Amino acid sequence: MSEPLASIPRHVAIIMDGNGRWAQQRGLPRSQGHEAGADSVRAVIRACRQAGVKYLTLYAFSVENWSRPRDEVSGLMSLLVRFLQREEAVLHEKKIRLRIIGRLEDLPPEAREGLARAMEATASYDEGQLILALSYGGRTEIATAARRIAEEVQAGNLQPAQVDEALLARYLYAPDVPDPDLLIRTSGEIRISNFLLWQTSYAEFYFTPVLWPDFREEQFNEALREYGRRRRRYGDVKEREAL
Ligand code: FPP
Repeated sequence: MSEPLASIPRHVAIIMDGNGRWAQQRGLPRSQGHEAGADSVRAVIRACRQAGVKYLTLYAFSVENWSRPRDEVSGLMSLLVRFLQREEAVLHEKKIRLRIIGRLEDLPPEAREGLARAMEATASYDEGQLILALSYGGRTEIATAARRIAEEVQAGNLQPAQVDEALLARYLYAPDVPDPDLLIRTSGEIRISNFLLWQTSYAEFYFTPVLWPDFREEQFNEALREYGRRRRRYGDVKEREAL
């Protein structure tokens, strides 16, 4: 029997890394690594539901990923469209809301339309949220927020003295989503790569050498167990549950 989990993170964010190496190790094209990675996405969505994790944010495509070979980029976009077509039924069945953070406007029309439709169709669900970071960059997100605030100041709707942490946070892509409690990165890389720079200030980080296509329920539950063993103090002297 598995040990009971001490505390369950409300929000888990994941940098899904290692699809290319997984494929390379098997002598397969990189696209096969991404396909297997999509199966891990399905498995982790299921595991979140079972564990009671309410928010799952996945780094599916960064602003930097546009510089990959054209074939790989278009393959990832078509995989995303197929994923939505297949998974939308699960979102409806389990009442999960789909959201996107990032520069949606950069995506090809087919992906944009599929995403917009699925977001609208699931907008009223509140059992959980699946947040896909697409054409996402943490610095871009903060710079965009700063620009919008500057516009409000220029228009006379805000005073510079009103700009504080709470106000800036309201201009981010998904201001109502609580900050991630746990950030997972697969494939052995130990860096943040421009992901949720603002929101991960107090997150617990979990790095694993497992490549993303091999990261399934069992590996996810191990990360949750490790999280349950951590003591979160937020710079304070005593442990606290959540901010
Ligand atoms: C990193 O592996 C992964 C990505 C850049 C893309 C993530 C995409 C998926 C998991 C596919 C499906 C996602 C959805 C939401 C349907 P890498 O290619 O950088 O691996 P490498 O570092 O080994 O080359």
